[in-house]
Amino acid sequence: MRFHYECNDCHKEYYTDEVMYLCPSCAKENTDPAQMRKGNLVVVLNEEDLRALKEKEDLAFYDFFPYEVPDHDAFPVGPTPVASPIRLQSKYGMKNVVCKCDSALPSGSFKDRASQLIIGQAKSHNEEKIVLASTGNAGAAMSCAGAAYGIDIVLFVPQTAPVNKLMQSVLYGAQVVPVKGTYDDAFALSIAYTDNFGGINRNTAYNPMTVEGKKSVSIELFCQLGRTLPDIVYVSTGDGCIYGGVVKGFIDLYRAGLTDRIPKVVCVQSEKSNAIAHAWETGEYTAVKATTVADSISVSSPANGRMAVRYINESDGWATVVTDEQILESQMELAKEAGLFVEPAAACAWAGFVKDHGRLKERFNDDVNVCVLLTGTGFKDMGVFKDRITMPSSIENSVDAVIERFSQH
Ligand SMILES: Cc1ncc(COP(=O)(O)O)c(C=O)c1O
Repeated sequence: MRFHYECNDCHKEYYTDEVMYLCPSCAKENTDPAQMRKGNLVVVLNEEDLRALKEKEDLAFYDFFPYEVPDHDAFPVGPTPVASPIRLQSKYGMKNVVCKCDSALPSGSFKDRASQLIIGQAKSHNEEKIVLASTGNAGAAMSCAGAAYGIDIVLFVPQTAPVNKLMQSVLYGAQVVPVKGTYDDAFALSIAYTDNFGGINRNTAYNPMTVEGKKSVSIELFCQLGRTLPDIVYVSTGDGCIYGGVVKGFIDLYRAGLTDRIPKVVCVQSEKSNAIAHAWETGEYTAVKATTVADSISVSSPANGRMAVRYINESDGWATVVTDEQILESQMELAKEAGLFVEPAAACAWAGFVKDHGRLKERFNDDVNVCVLLTGTGFKDMGVFKDRITMPSSIENSVDAVIERFSQH
């Protein structure tokens, strides 16, 4: 698929075969860390190539990728299950709400989608090394893909990053470099690394192929639903990269002439990490102090914030802000009443749906088609259950003990 880049902010176009990161002219303006970064590039696929897909019968998201991904099954990204949570559907009186379970991806999070396309990018440019900064899921996803394809992964992390989130990357064989500094410091050092030692830099939203890879979920969903679209999609949002990818997938389907509309995509954030929602409401692209318990969406200055705000408007969506308590309640609700075990950052999307459901029924009706994206498995962050779940005490290995335990209830 032929493509070029367009700056999200100044709309300058770049036609090149080279790997590109931020728009060179807008990036120069990024001097104030209190302001959301400018210059994220959008990958624009060739109109003619896209239109040709309209006639294709066995459509797959790979057809919409700017780079070819070799040996898809080496790192099987999707299709992830679409669950119909029947008890929750009847609890909220909305029979057409479904959950797309990206928690089932190989490394346990949505980030595998971006990582797969970055592998394709690296292979096309004959690079044997991918470098990134991350504190969690992106690092694990890239390391997992690297293990599958035999590509070296160099991962810079703040030394304070939660150990359980890094363990996966170490196990997959990545070269993990803890940094005595913040995530921003690790980000800067990862770029210094690629400047000096080469490799593809996969930093979220910095490399435009991260948003582009994440669009696969929308195309996959469209194919799974028999070439139809949901009306509304709920997305947990931190940096706004997943959000951007989801909308971009729907835009590409529309540009291909395969759909006649774009679903409303709802950006759900914690009130303790709400920079994008705030920017959408006020037009102020300022950083916030992020403190949410949902660590994967705890972002002070979103790396893809400006594109996310643009896409909220272009998809005619909105931003819904929830409390950390609502996120944690949603995590329990999904587990206990749907058998869906996700990390808090993923439960945030469900919390947004729960908060909005009354309004959805009023504004649309109770059979509106809603898809809630579940972006990461609960096993990623077991620490969050400390003081929230009590393990039952053991019993003696005897029938009497069983009778005693169950007679008490
Ligand atoms: C499980 C999970 N959900 C949601 C998000 C939010 O994605 P983004 O930062 O692109 O908005 C992340 C990001 O790390 C994540 O790991």
